[in-house]
Amino acid sequence: MELTDIADDLAATLYTEQQIQDKIEELAKRIDADYAGEKLLLVGVLKGAVMVMADLARALTLPIEMDWMAVSSYGSGTQSSGVVRILKDLDTDLTGRKVLIVEDIIDSGLTLSWLRANLSSRGAESVEICALLRKPDAAKVVVDVKYAGFEIANEFVIGYGLDYADKYRNLRGIGVLAPHIYAS
Ligand code: IMP
Ligand code: MG
Repeated sequence: MELTDIADDLAATLYTEQQIQDKIEELAKRIDADYAGEKLLLVGVLKGAVMVMADLARALTLPIEMDWMAVSSYGSGTQSSGVVRILKDLDTDLTGRKVLIVEDIIDSGLTLSWLRANLSSRGAESVEICALLRKPDAAKVVVDVKYAGFEIANEFVIGYGLDYADKYRNLRGIGVLAPHIYAS
């Protein structure tokens, strides 16, 4: 689905499919270089990170393993509750592993700071973070993101995995949701 297919639901277009792919390539090159010769485990955070994970994993030239976690910090609204619950846990034993958490977006930072602490406590050798988007003005906790894509304003965005009430994940680009959608 293209941004133009839902133009009425958007306040603005943020990134095209091509701009996203270019950014992912850039991040992948850095990850390839930093983890050369290592056995990296990518941990995707369901469901928002599916697109980033699929494209990042294929952009890497490293052999990687993939695993998934589902956590909830959001209801159907647009504000973080700060409460993190594991809905689906990893299948992989993290002892001695180099882990890279793959996320769509860092908003308050509450989800990722909790997740990093949680994965570190399982004996991983290292736990780093790759996030395509980041809202610096929304940060409630400081999260050290080694691989950060775009910095955006504190607005609710959709597309490329990001949803509003589980819709819009299949947009190829990323846009700002029009306020009339969540006000109604
Ligand atoms: P945080 O705990 O506030 O950093 O929230 C992180 C999670 O909230 C992300 O993984 C997303 O699933 C969701 N989220 C935060 N901001 C947005 C947004 O603008 N659009 C869609 N989902 C968002
Ligand atoms: Mg997410």
